[in-house]
Amino acid sequence: MEALVRVGQAGLGAWGANLVRNVDEVADLAWLCDSSQTRLDALARRYPGARTTTSFDELLADQSVEAVVVATPVPTHYALARQALEADKHVFVEKPPAMRADEMAELVRIAEERNRVLMPGHLLLYHPGVRKLKELVDSGDLGEVLCVYGNRQNLGTIRTNENALWSLGVHDLSVILHLIGEEPGEAWAHGNAFLTPGVEDVVFCYLRFPSGKIAHLHLSWLDPHKMRKLTVVGRDKMAVFDDMELERKITVYEKAPEQPAQSYGEWRTRTGDIFSPKIANDEPLRLEMQHFLSLVRNGTDGAAARDGLAVVRVLEQLTESLRA
Ligand SMILES: NC(=O)c1ccc[n+]([C@@H]2O[C@H](COP(=O)([O-])OP(=O)(O)OC[C@H]3O[C@@H](n4cnc5c(N)ncnc54)[C@H](O)[C@@H]3O)[C@@H](O)[C@H]2O)c1
Repeated sequence: MEALVRVGQAGLGAWGANLVRNVDEVADLAWLCDSSQTRLDALARRYPGARTTTSFDELLADQSVEAVVVATPVPTHYALARQALEADKHVFVEKPPAMRADEMAELVRIAEERNRVLMPGHLLLYHPGVRKLKELVDSGDLGEVLCVYGNRQNLGTIRTNENALWSLGVHDLSVILHLIGEEPGEAWAHGNAFLTPGVEDVVFCYLRFPSGKIAHLHLSWLDPHKMRKLTVVGRDKMAVFDDMELERKITVYEKAPEQPAQSYGEWRTRTGDIFSPKIANDEPLRLEMQHFLSLVRNGTDGAAARDGLAVVRVLEQLTESLRA
């Protein structure tokens, strides 16, 4: 049997704890690293087989470590991911891996040059519901995709160091670019910082793609509804991915406009069945980590890294629009 990939993880906070559980289950968790000794001690008790350090350099100096997982706060991602790639490690880095497109492009370049995996933590791409949505789009079942819109709203965690666009929008953007398979030619954002100066709590985004498809996002942590939803409107059918639903993650609506021959150019609507295909209950984080490890073992074509760059590029365009 092939040896498990030896992994070191930096960042053991709220989300890092979920990641490290998955790393431990599907890889050889060699190192735990956190700048907080308290966090390190807490996790060390759970994973006694792993070595511990508050120094990222010490983790990187271990030649037996093949891959590094970075789950530290966003502003630290670029520097840590870069340092790890330059130490010839494969890197999984939480989203977004960089806060500027030129920095992300630099990470992609270093990873290509050194033939290392650089995978951003675009968790939703590994969600079985989103995979089903992609299948529906690619198979042509929905007909030509016309528009996609995302709702990610809640009266949720109110962040003070990253706005709703960077904190919430990155999820929907990664999925929308994946579904549409294009980068937008136009990206507009409007929003407002109601609670913390300079940190937008409510953001609306509009994207227009070269093919004419359009997309919209409503991102907010000031909202009465808890919504995590993506709607895809096709010419023949419409589909909704609703992550708040326990059983009906995907609903397909056989609804569409039509122009019967005898209608002399007038549009009518057709409504048919509404159904929910079965979606596997696999943990997206587990699937995401398994994908990373398979790229480490079998080699990468760099697609994950380039997708990460496209997302950061759009985030940057949207930020410019928001500031304007
Ligand atoms: N994919 C998802 O769905 C998802 C969900 C939540 C969070 N995240 C991402 O995960 C990352 C971590 O989020 P969190 O909620 O766990 O944050 P957190 O603040 O709870 O934890 C961050 C940890 O990193 C440690 N740290 C900070 N700088 C460090 C450094 N230079 N070296 C080592 N350790 C350092 C801190 O001590 C802390 O323990 C963020 O990038 C966030 O965007 C992703």
